[in-house]
Amino acid sequence: MRRRDFLATGAGLLASRSARAAQAHIEVFVDEPFGAISADLHGHFTEHIGGVVYDGIWVGEDSKIPNIGGIRASLVEALRPLKPPVIRWPGGCFADSYNWRDGIGPRAQRPRRANFWINDPFMVKAPDGPQKYEPNWFGTNEFVRFCRLVGAQPYLAADLRSLPPKDFYEWIDYCNAPAGLTSLADLRTAQGDKEPFAVRFWGVGNESWGCGGDFAPDEYAVEFRRYTAWLPQFGVHLALIGSGPNGGDIDWTRRFFAKFTEKGKHALRQMYGWALHYYCGTSGKGQAVDFTVDDWYSLLAKSTRIESLITDHWAAMGEIDTEHRVKLVVDEWGAWHNPGTEVHPAYLFGQMPTMRDALISGLTLDTFHRHADKVTVSNVAQMINNLHCLFLAHEDRFVATTNYHVFEMYAAHQGAKAVRTVFSAPPIANKSLWGLAGSASLKGKALTLTVVNPHVNEAREAEVAVRGGTVRSMRARVLAADIHAHNTFADPQAVKPRDGGAAASGVYTFAPASVTRLDVELT
Ligand code: AHR
Repeated sequence: MRRRDFLATGAGLLASRSARAAQAHIEVFVDEPFGAISADLHGHFTEHIGGVVYDGIWVGEDSKIPNIGGIRASLVEALRPLKPPVIRWPGGCFADSYNWRDGIGPRAQRPRRANFWINDPFMVKAPDGPQKYEPNWFGTNEFVRFCRLVGAQPYLAADLRSLPPKDFYEWIDYCNAPAGLTSLADLRTAQGDKEPFAVRFWGVGNESWGCGGDFAPDEYAVEFRRYTAWLPQFGVHLALIGSGPNGGDIDWTRRFFAKFTEKGKHALRQMYGWALHYYCGTSGKGQAVDFTVDDWYSLLAKSTRIESLITDHWAAMGEIDTEHRVKLVVDEWGAWHNPGTEVHPAYLFGQMPTMRDALISGLTLDTFHRHADKVTVSNVAQMINNLHCLFLAHEDRFVATTNYHVFEMYAAHQGAKAVRTVFSAPPIANKSLWGLAGSASLKGKALTLTVVNPHVNEAREAEVAVRGGTVRSMRARVLAADIHAHNTFADPQAVKPRDGGAAASGVYTFAPASVTRLDVELT
């Protein structure tokens, strides 16, 4: 890298001084790629819970709220720039009692069912309505139309707890059979969807260790084999995803893979991904917005555990799956705060994301990128009006949260080659947290480097050295604000990224409590 002085045209962020004097160093090895950053790593999760589907996504065709066939237009418009690759639905635990047949056919004739979450003490207090009694207004056709509007692939989670395998393969038939071929394809066509949905991603259950059937891992392995022993393909190479561990439960992974392959390792060919769920929880007594500096550091440190979960489960899978045919799918992740900031009392698990959540988004996506050879899909939980959400909506009000901005900034990594990085920065004193971390990827001559600085009030100056390439120019996009800052209906622009000035190479100063993207053009 040529150590030229920066053109200090940005917000004073680009320093013109010797790289040697920097407090921290980031090395990017552009000639050491280790895998493609699948766009699917930036996926989303939506469940029939609280205000996610009803109000968040579905407002209805007759609503005064601008909509596209009943789907909230502002959500569609806001999602498009993120290039959302894949959206998981209908749960979560809701999926474990969902009969897909309830959600097809003329909307007025669809049955009303108790929502899985109806017994949650919080929901019992909610007024009667779609949060409590599932009206099935939003079913398979509506979900796939939503995916098509935003350019995402659908990822359907099948109910393995309360429906037999026949219903699973008939759901595939309904979705994927060519028009005119089967009676179920005729049913889909009658709903206005002649073109098959070509659904590739299928979850074979959800949290089968808990709400998805309370199985032991060996029992679930037998069920997985039974449910996937025969499935109609209709020309779609199905990507079947097994219900993996809750956080650090290595025993679940180890015992599943042992039992799953007891009749031979050919079983591994049936599984595309092994789903890991990790919620880093919350910290202290506060909720999403009300937290201390200690809470900030402690939650960020907890969220970094995703890295060892990936490597530990990967190692356990490799004891049996020595060629690593099966990849990890982190199809639920995020912070799960105490209640108190939901935009409506009936919106179970609704929370208001702050800069703390934005940093968790950044450092988690960076972790997935650094393990792009192991993780192939991830779905942040959940898209709107829920845990770690990107959007909040209530009736005609809609706002993008801090998490949204991180996903928008990180979209530049999608489809690029992940390249090796080495970060060295003084750790945060007494907080079990590194000083700087991030990830890098290369697409042609465009190098994208994303970096999180978790320090609440100290900027971090770092030498950015691009090994194996020469830097022509560098631009910055930065999300930085007070640690409690968040966007609300009243102040939707309180937190938003700003673009920094151009620079050649050398030293960059990362703002406190920030997520930064450096767009580096190589010669
Ligand atoms: O995202 C909320 C819930 O968390 C999901 O329904 C479940 O899968 C997980 O336990």
